[in-house]
Amino acid sequence: MSQVQSPKSETRETETSSANAQGASADPGHWTLDVGQSRADVGRGTLDFRLTVTDLRKSFPTPAGEKIEVLRGVSFSARAGEAISIMGASGAGKSTLLHLICGLEAADHGSIIAGEFAINRATSSALAHFRNKQVGFVFQFHHLLPDLTAAENVSLPLLITRTRHGLAMQRAARMLAEVGLDSRMSASVVGHLSGGEQQRVAVCRALITSPVLVLADEPSGNLDTAIGDEIAHSLISYARHNAALVIIATHNRALAAICDRTLVLRHGKLCDV
Ligand SMILES: Nc1ncnc2c1ncn2[C@@H]1O[C@H](COP(=O)(O)OP(=O)(O)O)[C@@H](O)[C@H]1O
Ligand SMILES: [Mg+2]
Repeated sequence: MSQVQSPKSETRETETSSANAQGASADPGHWTLDVGQSRADVGRGTLDFRLTVTDLRKSFPTPAGEKIEVLRGVSFSARAGEAISIMGASGAGKSTLLHLICGLEAADHGSIIAGEFAINRATSSALAHFRNKQVGFVFQFHHLLPDLTAAENVSLPLLITRTRHGLAMQRAARMLAEVGLDSRMSASVVGHLSGGEQQRVAVCRALITSPVLVLADEPSGNLDTAIGDEIAHSLISYARHNAALVIIATHNRALAAICDRTLVLRHGKLCDV
């Protein structure tokens, strides 16, 4: 992976590689993703990016008119360069937490500060701008547009920020090649690709804008082990080499073990393992 040319990326890499030295290597020559864009492209304030989540609470109404308290006071902080896993039983609130962090859902209480941006106080248009510029989200079921080609799907976030069409498609094709999808597959409509290929496309789409915050919701949950491992390694490698914060919700203990830290959601709160 070519590294983003940030003056601090070298320092960060040293810090995170020492954290990772206790576990398995997270960068054993798996796919490497050349995001091909300096972090400076996405504005000031991202080089020292921190995420601070304080006393987050969220409940949902049940059909019976009651309330399920999913998050009951979640607090943690993290910084660029870290890869963090979030574990917890099914229904523990992992997806809910990721959705709150990027403002896809609103919290009932608490605060989320991403860099200098207060997510819980932002307008919907500021949130849309923040997500497009600074966040990459990998969904469990990829949420690609099935009738568009792989390259068109990957280029979409760039087109939204008015990157020239030809350049966006060129960068998309290059990223797809780096995850092993050749030009024939990048020109195929996504609906014709296998589950593993589709998830690789989803990872490329999430990373093409060089986001400082990457949220992945059980990205390998539906894939066979080998391809799931590749997806996970590519995300962790992205955090290490691009001074980004990557948070992965997962059931996979082996994947959690190669992250810098694991947070476990239990009874609506986070605890360190
Ligand atoms: N939009 C929603 N409306 C009602 N209940 C929801 C909604 N989203 C999540 N829940 C409930 O919140 C709980 C946590 O869900 P989720 O965050 O998806 O857990 P996990 O990702 O850990 O499996 C579950 O009981 C789920 O049914
Ligand atoms: Mg979930």
